[in-house]
Amino acid sequence: MSNKVILTGDRPTGRLHIGHYVGSLRGRVELQNEADYKKMFVFIADAQALTDNFDNPEKVRQNIVEVALDYLSVGLDPSKVTIFVQSMIPELTELTFFYMNLVTVARLQRNPTVKSEIAMRGFSKETEEGQEKVFGSGLPVGFFTYPISQAADITAFKATTVPAGEDQKPMIEQTVEIVRKFNSIYGETLVEPQILLPKNSACLRLPGIDGKAKMSKSLGNCIYLSETADELNKKVMSMYTDPQHISVNDPGHIEGNTVFTYLDAFCKDEHFALYLPDYANLDELKAHYKRGGLGDVKIKKFLAKILNEEFEPIRARRKEFEKDIPAVYDMLRKGSQTAREVASQTMSEVKNAMKINYFDDAALIASQAEKFRK
Ligand code: TRP
Repeated sequence: MSNKVILTGDRPTGRLHIGHYVGSLRGRVELQNEADYKKMFVFIADAQALTDNFDNPEKVRQNIVEVALDYLSVGLDPSKVTIFVQSMIPELTELTFFYMNLVTVARLQRNPTVKSEIAMRGFSKETEEGQEKVFGSGLPVGFFTYPISQAADITAFKATTVPAGEDQKPMIEQTVEIVRKFNSIYGETLVEPQILLPKNSACLRLPGIDGKAKMSKSLGNCIYLSETADELNKKVMSMYTDPQHISVNDPGHIEGNTVFTYLDAFCKDEHFALYLPDYANLDELKAHYKRGGLGDVKIKKFLAKILNEEFEPIRARRKEFEKDIPAVYDMLRKGSQTAREVASQTMSEVKNAMKINYFDDAALIASQAEKFRK
């Protein structure tokens, strides 16, 4: 067993989809089962979700249990992994407040994830010089500073390893900077985390079924983990492929072809023997598609079979967990208690380092008493 502390989380703004699955969930279950860690935490980032859904708390509230069910159904095991709810750990907001002193406005504005999210929400404007102007807009401070709160999430648990998608890289970099700054000012206290990306590049950023850059709820191009086989088949049959591949005999393109990207993310050689025995592996299938003579329907049916095979046990487990929702809340409550104990330990170390432990510091009280006696 190593000294790794693994931590990651998701915003509860909807059910989790297969982009989350290949980008992170599948890897988490593998990590959990390899058992090569000291502790592992997975949490529901409701407070972070509220930074851009503060006007819709009901949405966040409804999705807590959806995400918890997704966790349990993919196979995260609460006896191995502490599963908790972010807002139940007040130490996280306390840490955020102290870390705010260590981050400049300019640095936050440079965070690429924040930058693109700000642009997406229409909060940034181009000036004549082409510079982005963030201020003077309606950007809420809470949203702007969420990378600092994410640094609190990570450091409160002294996480060494954060399994996450590529889009989270800037958050981890920002966390590392906060850790270094904190430790250099207040003394070695916090631990520097590292991001753990999926090994397979198709899994880094799984496109939506429409072929758009990213699977996302707002684009309506997701396949959800909890989708029925029927819904999944329909979505796969509607997937974006190669617009130039009009008749079966046309040579096809693999690059940017969503069905092949998904096959890269999901397909193993065994699947050919089971479902498409004319080919030995994905390379052979790709070669045929490129030559021409292989229709989209055939590759879509193959993909649907692979996806259904992978997701059927997950759906079945979800159905079981759905039968006892109070038990799911109970699991989250217990996980949150465990997590809080760890975070509060770090919190007291942070306060000691920052010398805001007035009531526990007998030497301070004595020296103050001495000072005023004179
Ligand atoms: N920002 C992450 C997301 O959008 C969620 C998250 C919050 C997170 N805090 C975290 C991920 C800490 C990893 C570590 O999904």
